[in-house]
Amino acid sequence: MIDIIRKKRDGGALSAREIGFVATGAGSGAIPNDQLAAWLMASWINGLNLDETRALTLAMRDSGEKFSPKRLGKTAVDKHSSGGVGDKTSFLVAPLAAACGVAVPMISGRALGHTGGTLDKLESIPGYRTALSLSEFETVLMTCGCSIVSQTPALVPADRVLYALRDRTGTVENPGLICASILSKKLAAGLDALVLDVKTGSGAFLRSYEECEFLAALMVVTAEAAGTRAVALLTDMDQPLGQAAGNWIELTEAVELLRGNRPAAIEDLRELSLILAGWMIHLGGKAASPQSGYQLAEAALTDGSALAVFFKMIDAQGGDVGVFDDPAAFHKPGATRVVDAWESGVVQSMDTTALGWAVQRTGAGRERAGEPVDPHAGIVFHARRGAHVEAGEPIATIYATNESMLDEPQAILRAAILISKELPKAAVAQLVSRVIAREDAERFLSGQ
Ligand code: URA
Repeated sequence: MIDIIRKKRDGGALSAREIGFVATGAGSGAIPNDQLAAWLMASWINGLNLDETRALTLAMRDSGEKFSPKRLGKTAVDKHSSGGVGDKTSFLVAPLAAACGVAVPMISGRALGHTGGTLDKLESIPGYRTALSLSEFETVLMTCGCSIVSQTPALVPADRVLYALRDRTGTVENPGLICASILSKKLAAGLDALVLDVKTGSGAFLRSYEECEFLAALMVVTAEAAGTRAVALLTDMDQPLGQAAGNWIELTEAVELLRGNRPAAIEDLRELSLILAGWMIHLGGKAASPQSGYQLAEAALTDGSALAVFFKMIDAQGGDVGVFDDPAAFHKPGATRVVDAWESGVVQSMDTTALGWAVQRTGAGRERAGEPVDPHAGIVFHARRGAHVEAGEPIATIYATNESMLDEPQAILRAAILISKELPKAAVAQLVSRVIAREDAERFLSGQ
């Protein structure tokens, strides 16, 4: 291990064998944390080349148990979103793609820092179990077509160790390490295809558009090299997606759309979900193009078949679907405050990362892994970028765990939303600004 650290420290490129040694040793506990931390820092500083990134992804994928979707008899496709605020597309795309004949084995994550977590949102449904064994996961997939679960303790143990160390050593923001971390977990689910939703803008994990493009291309090329068809969509996170950001309130927004309703205020969520599902259905072999996949997904949204799949999955995982009979009655936040616009004008910009922190401070998120979250906390944003607001008109509603937790999110919100007399300096970004498939990704990376 010392030789490998020295080689990386001095700018050398590691062989697949050397990378495999690190990943396997991280997963098994054979390599101590101090050496792994030194290797991570050397890799962060000197970067990982394409071959190293691919080798790390595969070795991490193979560091523990894996799921095989073979017995499902369907093409297995999933979607990954790189964080975001108010991003509840998983609750739409999983049942939409499943309703169109694709299997969706979705292994998801929890809220951390300014971004929400799919599992925490689902656990606001009484009884919903996210920790299924791989055989239970297979059973739900066979009966419902999709299943959204947490990582089992034995799945990709190398990432569990390396991610915790990266978090503590300032080595998270590196494209090769991010790519290997995300893809190793997705590829351990045995996917045939993967749709990557890479967020851009003020709420994105990586701040510059160029970094987002690079990460997207890197993930597409790496997934394809591992035998999984992949496409990446660069999507807008310069404002929250839809109106709600939190736990239960996000689920109710998704179910509103699954019920076939089409509120104008959450049209962005509907559109992005249909585009992503369209790609999943296309890559899953059920539509000749992403556009015809979109049309199939839209039909499954309007005819109620995706809603039926979603409720069936919740029921199969122990959840009480009865809470959706009257979502507003089930919502019992500890404290509520309506925040009015502090002046008249146009919403110039929204610092979406800061808004994510505001949501976290309501009690909806967590600062450290393992902390509990409040299922009823969160924020509903009533105004969007470019909209005209009048002073005194509601701009957001904060739901917090208790009265004392209302002031901080309100202060963050006030600083994060800029209302001005002028029109926005930058045009509101397109929902999907770029699609990167394999050929584009290869071209992009060869030009680097
Ligand atoms: N999410 C992950 O799972 N890993 C990373 O490195 C970054 C985001």
